[in-house]
Amino acid sequence: MEVRIASIEETEEFAVQLAKKIKPGAVLCLTGDLGAGKTTLVKALLKALGVMEAVKSPTYTLVNEYHDPLIIYHFDLYRIKNPWEVLDIGFDDYLRPEAVVIIEWADRITELIPEEAVWIRLSYGPTEGSRVFEVEEFQ
Ligand SMILES: Nc1ncnc2c1ncn2[C@@H]1O[C@H](COP(=O)(O)OP(=O)(O)OP(=O)(O)O)[C@@H](O)[C@H]1O
Ligand SMILES: [Mg+2]
Repeated sequence: MEVRIASIEETEEFAVQLAKKIKPGAVLCLTGDLGAGKTTLVKALLKALGVMEAVKSPTYTLVNEYHDPLIIYHFDLYRIKNPWEVLDIGFDDYLRPEAVVIIEWADRITELIPEEAVWIRLSYGPTEGSRVFEVEEFQ
């Protein structure tokens, strides 16, 4: 499904709809160029899921954790050079049925992503502030 987004406000509205489909155990993979809007979407999604804490990009730490009101692991893999770096920090242990896992630049570790993950590919739209989100259907 292709979703045309006209503005940041529409990205936030998309996040609210997406949040309704996110259940514990979900793995959400985000791909797209620098500035495509992955982190903006994650921030809006976590807000919609009820996270009250400030959400920061885990660019240097690889992963940030949230525990209230649900367990969320937010990865940003922009800086990794090899999938082994993610296995080294125990990636498989993060894939737990009670946790939601969100991964920016997930295409850097495609071979480690479980099959049931949902992929969203973000790209720039034709006008300023516009974006196109290509969303895989939820099961
Ligand atoms: N519709 C939109 N949705 C999301 N971001 C938008 C939109 N329109 C403009 N922007 C702007 O585009 C930028 C998106 O940055 P963001 O950090 O979310 O991208 P990113 O894909 O996470 O990039 P990176 O790969 O560098 O982490 C922000 O400056 C944001 O204000
Ligand atoms: Mg980002």
